[in-house]
Amino acid sequence: MADPLPTTSDHPTSELTLVVGGTGKTGRRVAERLESLDRRVRIGSRSADPPFDWNDATTWDDALRGVTAAYVTYYPDLAFPGAVETVRAFADAAVKAGARRLVLLSGRGEPEAQRAEEVVAASGADVTVVRSSWFAQNFSEHFLLHPVLDGTIALPAGGVAEPIIDVDDVADVAVAALTEEGHAGRLYEVTGPRLLTFEEMAAELTAATGREVRFVDVTPEEYAAGAAAAGVPPEEIEGLTELFASILDGRNAYVADGVEQALGRPARDFSDYARRTAASGVWDRPDVAAQA
Ligand SMILES: NC(=O)c1ccc[n+]([C@@H]2O[C@H](COP(=O)([O-])OP(=O)(O)OC[C@H]3O[C@@H](n4cnc5c(N)ncnc54)[C@H](OP(=O)(O)O)[C@@H]3O)[C@@H](O)[C@H]2O)c1
Repeated sequence: MADPLPTTSDHPTSELTLVVGGTGKTGRRVAERLESLDRRVRIGSRSADPPFDWNDATTWDDALRGVTAAYVTYYPDLAFPGAVETVRAFADAAVKAGARRLVLLSGRGEPEAQRAEEVVAASGADVTVVRSSWFAQNFSEHFLLHPVLDGTIALPAGGVAEPIIDVDDVADVAVAALTEEGHAGRLYEVTGPRLLTFEEMAAELTAATGREVRFVDVTPEEYAAGAAAAGVPPEEIEGLTELFASILDGRNAYVADGVEQALGRPARDFSDYARRTAASGVWDRPDVAAQA
């Protein structure tokens, strides 16, 4: 009898992908896509079983047991102090545990993130770097959600333009790198298809939500004070403020074609994100709906 034709579920059962940050913005999407391809997935996060904690290396061995590949998102940010050494130690531990393929999520224009890319590339695994611009989902799943709901996005961004990216594209690129051949050794600089100032993003959010969302340029000090008042943990405020002061200086104000290179199709546009996200209801305000 002839062998049955291979299907997507015919992968060696020994293959197991650790998705670090697998409940976060990109990791959740990567895990969902891998599962829909019938890939075996383990979530790496503090709330997972077994738990994985970047700040506690004694949790790493259990999370890495039997793993053949990993999607690596560092929390809170590769630009934060200590990240490079931690990521180096993790990549070495992953290779020692048997991982042959590592896909690292990195950020554009961040010297420390670029050092982290180098140490992961030197781990001996097949490495793909996904070096990303700002995520559109910061406005709906992260620190800019409440500002959108309040109607004022205050950032030390001035008139700088950013080719903001939809994290569904980041996840598509990461999954391609985890599951297809031909991505090892590649650096994909992924961005959205066009540059937008934060004022222009606010205008798009206004159009999508039907409520005024305005952008206000603030100094880094004003941003830090506002973040503290909004309850952002003090240990994150300094790092975020320094990060914004450095990367929001125009250095990333150009479009790159990593999505097209990796996937053979253009990146999704911010308008699509804004429309889709408004339809999901995440920006609905019960008080505004009640008055309507
Ligand atoms: N936001 C942007 O615009 C942007 C742009 C480019 C690159 N990046 C990069 O994106 C990375 C973050 O990825 P993301 O946005 O997909 O993740 P995220 O949404 O920030 O998700 C956080 C994830 O990390 C886990 N986590 C939090 N603290 C942890 C810890 N101490 N140890 C282990 N896991 C922890 C969380 O789960 P638990 O709470 O259960 O632990 C959750 O799964 C950063 O390295 C940043 O440099 C971000």
